[in-house]
Amino acid sequence: MSLQSASPSSLALRLKTETAPLHEKLDKLVMSLKPFDNRENYGRFVAAQYLFQRDIEPLYDDSAYAALIPDLATRPRLAAAQADLRDLGQAVPEAAEAPQGQGMALPEGLGWLYVSEGSKLGAAFLLKEAGQRLGLDENFGARNLAAPSDGRGAAWKRFVQALDGSGLSAGEQDRVVAGAGAAFERFAVLLARSYDLKGEPSLA
Ligand code: HEM
Repeated sequence: MSLQSASPSSLALRLKTETAPLHEKLDKLVMSLKPFDNRENYGRFVAAQYLFQRDIEPLYDDSAYAALIPDLATRPRLAAAQADLRDLGQAVPEAAEAPQGQGMALPEGLGWLYVSEGSKLGAAFLLKEAGQRLGLDENFGARNLAAPSDGRGAAWKRFVQALDGSGLSAGEQDRVVAGAGAAFERFAVLLARSYDLKGEPSLA
């Protein structure tokens, strides 16, 4: 059963369709880095997750987003990623620049939030792997992959409803999709840095 509960013309569906190729490449990139082979490799994934969550942290404090997404305050994962790094005995990574979300306009920022929220769906698989192969769980080391308190499906459904009820113009919706594309690219760059890959990869 698909968790997509949007109507055919919805912004959420457009995001899913138009960013699907980026998602597929990012998913392949993550798996190629073998994050579940050992805790060191996994810790590098968590470091990238931490920096990504740091990028979007400013959006959670912006009342314009909270007006659109009533349960926004329950959604950040920066603290979870930081606690995971502590569990793993790993230093908090140095950020190379200011958080990307600082001062970001709402349409683009919604695209970034879409990427973070959607990644909680795929995180079900990642959490299972982290448990089976590394002995981690939502209380130790894999907090950043935990399900929302009322379940991944319910939280996602509410987020999709907020996106689709946002009342954005066609032009603004284009900017949300562009923001989502930029967020996917950013996650790839953070992974590349965290795993010391040569060059900065592009998902294009
Ligand atoms: C190995 C890594 C990954 C795997 C295996 C994976 C897997 C999945 C799966 C199976 C879904 C669909 C869940 C469902 O509909 O029930 C999904 C959705 C999604 N994932 Fe991933 N994912 C991975 C990494 C990521 C990363 C790193 C991001 C972003 C930072 C991400 C962003 C998303 C988004 C935005 C969606 C929602 C798509 C939509 O329905 O609109 N994923 N992922």
